[in-house]
Amino acid sequence: MSLQRADFFVIGTDTGVGKSLVAAALLRHLGQERGRRTVGMKPVAAGTDWVNGRWCNDDVEALNAASNVQAPSAWVCPYLLREAMAPHIAAEHENITLRLDHLKACFAQLQTVSDSVVVEGAGGFIVPLNATETLADLAKALALPVVLVVGLRLGCLNHALLTAQAIRQAGLPLAGWVANHIDPEMPALAENIAALTLRLDAPCWAQIPWQGVALAAGTLPHVPFTLPLFDAPPP
Ligand SMILES: Nc1ncnc2c1ncn2[C@@H]1O[C@H](COP(=O)(O)OP(=O)(O)OP(=O)(O)O)[C@@H](O)[C@H]1O
Ligand SMILES: [Mg+2]
Repeated sequence: MSLQRADFFVIGTDTGVGKSLVAAALLRHLGQERGRRTVGMKPVAAGTDWVNGRWCNDDVEALNAASNVQAPSAWVCPYLLREAMAPHIAAEHENITLRLDHLKACFAQLQTVSDSVVVEGAGGFIVPLNATETLADLAKALALPVVLVVGLRLGCLNHALLTAQAIRQAGLPLAGWVANHIDPEMPALAENIAALTLRLDAPCWAQIPWQGVALAAGTLPHVPFTLPLFDAPPP
């Protein structure tokens, strides 16, 4: 019996707030604790290093390592851009136009080999992809429930609430949010989490503590998710 699909679009309040960490942990959870065939997708990765004879991106490597299906890299990361900068600018530098229809086709391919695709956004929710479209348009085109990673630092309440508003305006469900403690100096942590819990119209799926040191990209701590059940067979 095939499982009901559970695909998610992971976005963040900003760049560097833990999207990759959460997307990878979610892939692990869905694969190891929910028995799903999982694959990560990074639609646009900006910033590569030459490693072992090929261009690599940390986010793509982290998603691949956490997935239990290894799909062609052309589907997992359709646009692998050299320079670490805003995606549409990095693309312009390579004379590439980022196209939603191509991303949609690659996502559909990933769905054929998995039960869950976890898509990691780039930067924040309204990051431009090209002259007229943004990451929000991609989330809409894929019609995916959104998981919002809130990087707990000063300013996060405003960023989180603006992002939640934009998700609503896009007509997408906010499936859940994750509180990620990225700033060990953050004052009034518990009060900030309480303020978000009160105002974000979605369950908190996990709280990730500060790990004692800034983790190297790709390091994956255990994240105890409290996801709703979606594994019941369709009626
Ligand atoms: N709770 C935490 N404690 C310590 N380090 C963390 C924590 N969360 C994330 N990090 C580290 O912070 C860095 C940024 O996290 P991550 O790469 O997941 O962010 P991102 O939102 O995916 O960034 P980008 O916008 O570049 O894709 C990584 O090196 C990650 O390991
Ligand atoms: Mg990332």
